[in-house]
Amino acid sequence: MSLAQSPAATIKSYRGKLPLSIITVLVCSFAIIALLYTERLSSLSSGSIFKLSSCPKRNHIKKSKNKTAEQNIYNTEIDDRFDFDPEECNVVNGKWVFNSSIKPLYSDRTCPYLDMQVSCVKNGRPDSDYRHWEWQPEDCTLPRFNPELALKKLRNKRLLFVGDSLQRGQWQSFVCMVESIIPEDKKHFKRGRSHTVFKAKEYSASIEFYWAPFLIESNSDLQIIGDPKKRILKVDSIEKHAKHWGAVDIIVFNTYVWWMSGIRLKTLWGSFANGADGFEELDTPIAYRIGLKTWANWIDSTINPNRTRVFFTTMSPTHTKSIDWGNKDGIKCFNETKPVTKKKHWGSGSDKKMMSVVSDVVKKMKVPVTFLNITQISEYRIDAHASVYTEAGGKVLTEEERADPLRHADCIHWCLPGVPDTWNQIFLAHL
Ligand SMILES: *[C@@H]1O[C@H](CO)[C@@H](O)[C@H](O)[C@H]1NC(C)=O
Ligand SMILES: *[C@@H]1O[C@H](CO)[C@@H](O)[C@H](O)[C@H]1NC(C)=O
Ligand SMILES: *[C@@H]1O[C@H](CO)[C@@H](O)[C@H](O)[C@H]1NC(C)=O
Ligand SMILES: *[C@@H]1O[C@H](CO)[C@@H](O)[C@H](O)[C@H]1NC(C)=O
Ligand SMILES: *[C@@H]1O[C@H](CO)[C@@H](O)[C@H](O)[C@H]1NC(C)=O
Repeated sequence: MSLAQSPAATIKSYRGKLPLSIITVLVCSFAIIALLYTERLSSLSSGSIFKLSSCPKRNHIKKSKNKTAEQNIYNTEIDDRFDFDPEECNVVNGKWVFNSSIKPLYSDRTCPYLDMQVSCVKNGRPDSDYRHWEWQPEDCTLPRFNPELALKKLRNKRLLFVGDSLQRGQWQSFVCMVESIIPEDKKHFKRGRSHTVFKAKEYSASIEFYWAPFLIESNSDLQIIGDPKKRILKVDSIEKHAKHWGAVDIIVFNTYVWWMSGIRLKTLWGSFANGADGFEELDTPIAYRIGLKTWANWIDSTINPNRTRVFFTTMSPTHTKSIDWGNKDGIKCFNETKPVTKKKHWGSGSDKKMMSVVSDVVKKMKVPVTFLNITQISEYRIDAHASVYTEAGGKVLTEEERADPLRHADCIHWCLPGVPDTWNQIFLAHL
């Protein structure tokens, strides 16, 4: 693993900070000392994101030291990021870099599996810069998405994405990125109401999506109820959906935006003859916690971690308040063509309290869950939503609808190709 050979090495100046490896050594030393004085070893064994990442191998440390010495002596301009290692690299810290020579692996004309909702170019989006930004973590090089490698890793495996329409976007992005290298007669696609399956026959691999917007059951799963006040969530019931999730090798969950339709949610538990009449209104984060706890209990009691790897995609930010990024004359994300550059930008569309509910629940789980923490990365991308280049009721927005972005711009979903391709780039690097 040579630093000089890292695939996307770029020339840039040394930032004059301690290399991560040295910091890690220090942290690890302290951690070991700390461990000698604490008995709470067990608290370190749960959810993978929460355990201390393993202390790096020696050769890693040596290399970095050597390079630092070189840099100090010659003050040369070297990319000081190391090759991607999921244990060591925090992909959340980084920046979007514009590179006009990046070509997405597919387009909404070449990939037949994309929903109209996210096919922005087909729907008339005129600008294209949003397709040429690449996420560069600060401390390491994130490998580009390699479709052949992805299929090799999925050989004889079932990969299942479960969740809402944002998760469906991530699944479509994954399918589209691999499907172009598969000959027509070697792939198979079967669309169902809640369960859709793409198969790469030569690899005996399947890449599937299961629609469960709240993960738990609700009265708004298949027959979607437009009025959030009429939705009732069965926070202790999951089996109806979960019975379709067994026997998979890799499973990726998400759930967020559907919970955010109000500050309180109608919830129901137990099953009694009075049916839905017995609901109780709970504050959204509390309902979310109970729902996720039901999900966590299902995972811990059903999933064999030796067979199945579990991932969770963190909340996908919405960009409906342009004042969040200082554009006081803007209309939601409409007409935005550049990412936010302010470091750590965080808008009102990503609720930190909701994110901490997920981490709290996962922390207590027995089965390890790896987070795909895409929230901060996506927060910057006000330019990448479907906006007015989307559909309503199965029809591309009309000129009149487009002229009224306040009502019609979709600043929740992402154009494809686009930001979810980067989520999958991170996902593949973790597989
Ligand atoms: C350190 O750098 C020297 C030359 O600059 C090289 O010969 C040596 O192999 C390097 N050591 C390591 C561990 O990379
Ligand atoms: C831009 O992308 C091209 C093609 O993938 C790559 O060769 C080049 O190194 C990239 N440039 C930067 C600055 O990352
Ligand atoms: C997983 O594998 C380990 C080691 O092979 C074994 O001890 C453990 O019982 C297995 N767990 C399950 C749930 O099968
Ligand atoms: C979109 O932005 C451009 C400049 O950034 C501006 O010229 C144009 O009028 C804007 N379009 C609308 C409909 O606001
Ligand atoms: C994801 O990253 C953000 C920082 O961008 C952090 O605040 C948050 O705790 C992380 N979430 C999870 C679930 O790890």
